[in-house]
Amino acid sequence: MLRHRPEHLRATSKSTPTDAVTEMDAASERLIVDRLLAARPGDRIVGEEGARHEGTDDDVVTWYVDPIDGTVNYLYALPQFSVSIAAYVAGAAVAGVVYDVMRDEMYAAALGGGATCNGVALRCTPQTDLSLSLVATGFAYSAQTRAAQAQVLLHVLPTVRDIRRLGSAALDLCAVAAGRVDGYYEAGMHPWDWAAGALIASEAGARVGGLGGRPPGDWTTLAANPVLFEELERLLISAGVEPPAS
Ligand code: IPD
Ligand code: CA
Ligand code: CA
Repeated sequence: MLRHRPEHLRATSKSTPTDAVTEMDAASERLIVDRLLAARPGDRIVGEEGARHEGTDDDVVTWYVDPIDGTVNYLYALPQFSVSIAAYVAGAAVAGVVYDVMRDEMYAAALGGGATCNGVALRCTPQTDLSLSLVATGFAYSAQTRAAQAQVLLHVLPTVRDIRRLGSAALDLCAVAAGRVDGYYEAGMHPWDWAAGALIASEAGARVGGLGGRPPGDWTTLAANPVLFEELERLLISAGVEPPAS
């Protein structure tokens, strides 16, 4: 469905004028939610575009759905976007899929079962030298948060091989899993952005978490092999990354 992008794509904005949502974000979420509910009516669903269903079962499964991760790319007909779906039980991810629509690549992981792309097992890179590491990152939609992220980047960019801002957090985490980048960090995301990709990256041997032992999604999320994770964490702390005052 997403591959057939309407020529005149209808779009509005959400949290800021640059935070776009298109008719296809809504259509994709509707399709996913309808199919989940048909298959598993008792589950809980949290969708980025507003889908909320309370679960009725004990040990309820919660599904986090990002119907298009990389909406700005989709809006501009750039090919880097994905669909991200994660299943959680008792606060832990048990399964995740991220579909790279235009490359027809299905990343998948089950807790303890490894991570695959189109059925082929994934492994993150063994790179431990920060200065030779290719690091993906992303930026929030709020201008104030972006200004802080730009300051952090001033410290990170001269220290690493290079930075990639590809535009889909879910695919960035899958790129860590697939060894297409060495590491990834980003601040200020929502569970639907990272929940599936984090399981895929960790099942591919990466450490995924926040700064200073925090869980992923707690302001900053980092992913890399365990040695590089610590290097990146030190770098971000020395660059002054701090949670926003609440
Ligand atoms: C965004 C993308 C982007 C990341 C932003 C996310 P959306 O999700 O994942 O790469 O930098 O933080 O909000 O809005 O395209 O679903
Ligand atoms: Ca997203
Ligand atoms: Ca989205």
